[in-house]
Amino acid sequence: LQNFIYHNPTKIIFGVNTINQLKDNLPRVKILFLYGSGSIKKNETYQKVINNLANHDFIEVGGVAPNPDFDFAVEITKTIKEKNIDFILAVGGGSVIDCAKFLAIAAKYDGDLNDIILGDNAETVTPLPFGVISTLPATGSEMNSGSVMSYKGNKVGVFNSNNYPVFSILDPCLTLSLPKHYIGNGVVDAYVHVLEQYLTFPQSAPLQDRFSESILKTLIEVGTKTYMEPQNLEHRASMFWCTTMALNNLIGVGVESDWSTHALGHQLTSMYGIDHARTLALVWSKNMRLRKENKMEKMLQYGQRVFGINETDNDLAFELTLKATDDFFESLGVPTTFTSYPEVEDDLGFKMMSRLKALKMNTLGEKDDLNIMKIMQIFKL
Ligand code: NZQ
Ligand code: ZN
Repeated sequence: LQNFIYHNPTKIIFGVNTINQLKDNLPRVKILFLYGSGSIKKNETYQKVINNLANHDFIEVGGVAPNPDFDFAVEITKTIKEKNIDFILAVGGGSVIDCAKFLAIAAKYDGDLNDIILGDNAETVTPLPFGVISTLPATGSEMNSGSVMSYKGNKVGVFNSNNYPVFSILDPCLTLSLPKHYIGNGVVDAYVHVLEQYLTFPQSAPLQDRFSESILKTLIEVGTKTYMEPQNLEHRASMFWCTTMALNNLIGVGVESDWSTHALGHQLTSMYGIDHARTLALVWSKNMRLRKENKMEKMLQYGQRVFGINETDNDLAFELTLKATDDFFESLGVPTTFTSYPEVEDDLGFKMMSRLKALKMNTLGEKDDLNIMKIMQIFKL
C-alpha cells in the first residue's frame, strides 16, 4: 500500500425523499439551476427542485446533452459571469454534473477557455461552489472532482483537485423513471470503475482489494435485482450507494490503477456516439485477454472471490472469469460484442490506430503494457 492523502469533502445526503432537504443546504446567493434535456420535467424532479428554490434567487439553464459539449458550456459560462452567479445546482446524470464541474472552473478562469481543456490550467483556479442532485446512478461524478467533456470530436478529462460538489443528494426515488437501458448502463459503468482500480497486479493492499470485491459482489446482487425489478426502491438505493462508492477515490488511493478500458471506450463514444458504459463492456475482456501475463494473479483472485471460480488450470480460470464478467454485462442488456453495433465497420482497428496516434496515446495500462499493436487487436472485428 503506497502513502496517500484521502480528502473527500462532499456531503452526501442519501435516501428516500432527501430531495426535500435541498432548500436547507443551498446557500443564500445567486444560483444557476442546471439540468439536461428534459427528463426532470417528465417526472416530478423539476417541480420538487423549483419548490425548494422558492426563497432563493436563481436562474435556470437546461439543455445539457449526454457527453457534454465544450462549446455549449462556453456559452453558459458567459451567462454565469454576466449574471454574477455564485453557486451552481446540477440536477441530472453524469453529463449534467460534469458540465457543472467544467462551469465551476470556467467561471473563475480569466483566460481562453480552450486552455482549460488543452493544458493544466484547470488546476490554477479555485472553482465556484456547486451542489448536485444525482438522477442516474452510474458515474460517481457526484462524489469526485473529475469531469469529462466533449471537445472537437474527443472526450477529454478535466481535473481540479478542489472541484468536489459541496453536497450531493442521492434520492433513489428520483431515479425510478430511468428506462432499463440506463439501469444496465449504470451498473456496468460502476462495475468497470471498480475493475479498473482493482484488477491490476498484487499491491499489498488487502483492504482496497476487499472494498473492491464487496462493491463488485453487491453490484452483481443488487444491480441484477434492480434490472429485474426496476420499481423496487430498496434494491435501487443499494445500487445507488454502490455506484457512488465505486468512484469516490476511496478504493483507488494507495494503489496503481489501470484506466485503459475507459481511455479506449471514450474513443468509441466519440466515433460512434455509443453510450459511455456500453463502450466499456465492448472493450474490457478483450483488453484483459491481451495482457494475460500481467493480469493473471489478480484475475484469479477476482474469479475466485467474486464468482467462486475454483478451477486449478490458470488459463481456464482466466477465461472463465472473463466469460462470467461478460455474461453479467449481457444479462443487464449491455452487449459485449461489436456485432451488436451495425454502425461499427471492419476498418475500426485502423481508425482507432490513427486516432490514438493523433492523441499521442502510444501505450496504456498500469505497466504501459498495452501498445498500439495490441490495441489494434482489441478492435479487430
Ligand atoms: O438529459 P436528460 O433529459 O436529463 O436525460 C438523461 C440522458 O438522456 C437521462 N436521464 C438522467 N436521469 C434520468 C434520465 N432519464 C429518466 N429518468 C432519470 N432519472 O439519461 C440519459 C443519459 O444521461 P447521462 O448523464 O449522459 O448519463 P451518465 O450518468 O451515464 O453520464 C455519462 C457521462 O459521464 C461521463 C461520461 O463520459 C459521459 O459523458 N463520466 C463521468 C465520470 C466522472 N465525472 O467521474 C466518470 C465516468 O467514467 C464517465 O466518463
Ligand atoms: Zn465510466
